[in-house]
Amino acid sequence: MPESAEGAPLVLDVEEPLAAPAAGDAAAPRRDPQSKAHHIDACLTSAVEYRKSAGFERCDFVNQALPEVSLEGLDLSQPLIGKTLGAPLMIAPMTGGIERAHVLNLRLAAAAQRHGLAMGVGSQRVGLESEERAAFFRVRSVAPSILLFANFGVGQLAKGWGVDEARRAVDMIEADALYLHMNPIQEAAQGGDVDFRGLAARIKVLCTALNKERIPVFAREVGFGVSAEAARLLIDAGISGIDCAGAGGTSWSKVEGICAKSERRRKMGMAFGEWGIPTATAIRAVRSVSTKIPLIATGGLRSGLDLAKAIGLGADVGAMARPFLVAADAGEEALEAFIQDTLLELRIAMFGIGAADLDALRGTPHLREIDHETPRTRPLG
Ligand SMILES: Cc1cc2nc3c(=O)[nH]c(=O)nc-3n(C[C@H](O)[C@H](O)[C@H](O)COP(=O)(O)O)c2cc1C
Repeated sequence: MPESAEGAPLVLDVEEPLAAPAAGDAAAPRRDPQSKAHHIDACLTSAVEYRKSAGFERCDFVNQALPEVSLEGLDLSQPLIGKTLGAPLMIAPMTGGIERAHVLNLRLAAAAQRHGLAMGVGSQRVGLESEERAAFFRVRSVAPSILLFANFGVGQLAKGWGVDEARRAVDMIEADALYLHMNPIQEAAQGGDVDFRGLAARIKVLCTALNKERIPVFAREVGFGVSAEAARLLIDAGISGIDCAGAGGTSWSKVEGICAKSERRRKMGMAFGEWGIPTATAIRAVRSVSTKIPLIATGGLRSGLDLAKAIGLGADVGAMARPFLVAADAGEEALEAFIQDTLLELRIAMFGIGAADLDALRGTPHLREIDHETPRTRPLG
């Protein structure tokens, strides 16, 4: 994520430019790419997690003692914008632009290729500003056919980025689609880009141009959730899909608080550490506006069972960030075991309710809301 304002002095809303602005980006100071390393270090600790839950423990599958399907025969394939995923799982956008991030991304991308998963890279802003950094976002050498998303923030649109930068971000990594990430609370907590006026109109201009070039544009929160109102604005703007990334997993306000250099910013990050729409609620909110818009659900998915519930609630694909980061950091074997276990859990959940494929899971009558409060299951390491 992008762009932390660490190094900011005690005065709120004032950032230290770290290098000269790029051409065409006169208003925007460059950010320190090493902030990506701080984000990785912070996200390898459980201190960044929400206390509140993503809401999946309040959904319960109703066991079917005679499911009439075979575990081995279940179909996990999922079409998404012209490609077919081997399973409805995505490696959520995290990082890039520095060597350490590249090593992790290559490991993740190779695993995505083995299992037919989708993947996004982290904000490419530093890559668009420097060719040297751009190289550290590329993963096609190990993942020639995965569904791959480029990524930058809507804050850049407000500062004048547009079709040209979007094309360059997509071309930089030979992506299939572009993610535009929306992170008002993170930006405000860190003292970053906070003028979000007129963004729906700018998104519309971008979508109109890129749709003509057959580049799908998805909008995503970074983990504070997409409301029904925001989903309506995005759909009216011509977005091709939404990632409703909600609260309950990694809190990006806490990440910024932990990475802040000033005590004031640290407190600000922590004050908003529990802000956000839980992911299960965000899935329902987007689906209340459109039953058709391709929907990815990120935020607090911590198991194949959570993934099954996200899909049962209406998502097309579920995505995880921190669990993949932790597994990839532990090494290739740990990553492979994590993916295999996650997909097996998804299979067992489908088996247990007799869902032969993902359409059956998505339309299942066997997912019920339970009204009792249960403690959060399985906090991540
Ligand atoms: C180390 C790290 C870096 C991230 N950087 C980005 C980013 O650059 N752009 C973005 O859209 N989301 C970014 N995210 C947010 C994730 O994609 C995701 O929405 C969020 O972490 C919630 O998912 P989780 O609970 O599975 O971690 C990042 C997440 C992590 C863990």
